[in-house]
Amino acid sequence: MKGNCLIFGGGGFIGSHICDELIRMGYDVTVFDKQNFSKINIFHLKDKIRVIEGDFNNAIDLKRALEGIDYVFHLVSSTLPATSNENPVYDAETNLVSTLRLLGELKGSQKKKIIFISSGGTVYGIPKEIPIPESHTRNPLCSYGIIKKTIEDYLYMYNYLYGLDYVVLRLSNPYGERQNPLYSQGVIPVFLRKILVGEEIHIWGDGSVKRDYIYIKDAVSVIAKSVEYSGNSRIFNLGYGEGYTLNEIIKIMETETGKVPVVKYEAGRKLDVPVNVLDITLAKKTFGWKPKVTFAEGIKRTHTYIKDITFL
Ligand SMILES: NC(=O)c1ccc[n+]([C@@H]2O[C@H](COP(=O)([O-])OP(=O)(O)OC[C@H]3O[C@@H](n4cnc5c(N)ncnc54)[C@H](O)[C@@H]3O)[C@@H](O)[C@H]2O)c1
Repeated sequence: MKGNCLIFGGGGFIGSHICDELIRMGYDVTVFDKQNFSKINIFHLKDKIRVIEGDFNNAIDLKRALEGIDYVFHLVSSTLPATSNENPVYDAETNLVSTLRLLGELKGSQKKKIIFISSGGTVYGIPKEIPIPESHTRNPLCSYGIIKKTIEDYLYMYNYLYGLDYVVLRLSNPYGERQNPLYSQGVIPVFLRKILVGEEIHIWGDGSVKRDYIYIKDAVSVIAKSVEYSGNSRIFNLGYGEGYTLNEIIKIMETETGKVPVVKYEAGRKLDVPVNVLDITLAKKTFGWKPKVTFAEGIKRTHTYIKDITFL
């Protein structure tokens, strides 16, 4: 085996796909997720991975989980961009403070690396240029983005002062199989399900908000590769590098499903930046990678998945 990987939040949408890829690459994988979490995303891996149930906010659970681990993937988040401003104290307590506890454990340990999933959609705030390069100023408009940005800064400090190896992936909007269509994050599965069952889609603003969407397997390919990466850059944008407006997405979904979406437009929200498209040149060059799945193909695959799951 090439090494032991621990994935905090490994039972979730992105984490479960990372498990698939790391196993394919020959790593030992341990998933750490909440007590009694749904195993649906990792059920197919039940004989191939180790599962630890615990609370990321519990120092003892955290310490125990790290025993014998080489690589740590941090994918736990207790908040979402759109609602994090309702309770920034909770956001800081559960995401920032717990992450600092984790970094404290990793400091001076023999762990080889931590890979942190940051947010390409929120850390920059309103962009001054499109596509947005990694060097762009970071002025997040939501607590979720501020916490991601702050964790990035602590990682820099822990590396500089204590030699902790890390990679930050500023992920745009991943979508695809296993993303929960009943969740409040992820417009692709949420819109598709609503179209399929004839439910009204609510859009904040006039639908011109443009975002960068990346098919999950394309994103995970870079996330997993970052384990073996040892270059000087540490922060990478991870997206498709092109943007689609909500109105364009609805049109594509109409073509894909053959159903006419019912859309209700509501007042725009100040925290939604008008456009966010990432410059992915650095990830392409560094990892010898580029996204393979076009947006239309990704929508088709997600549509097939949503049609087939039973809880519609
Ligand atoms: N999905 C996106 O659009 C997106 C975009 C950019 C960044 N991210 C980041 O990627 C990471 C994973 O996102 P996801 O979409 O897979 O989310 P998800 O909700 O599907 O997965 C997160 C997992 O973390 C677990 N978790 C939450 N709190 C925990 C705790 N206290 N202890 C143990 N486990 C806990 C959850 O049970 C869940 O299985 C998050 O950090 C998120 O901020 C997501």
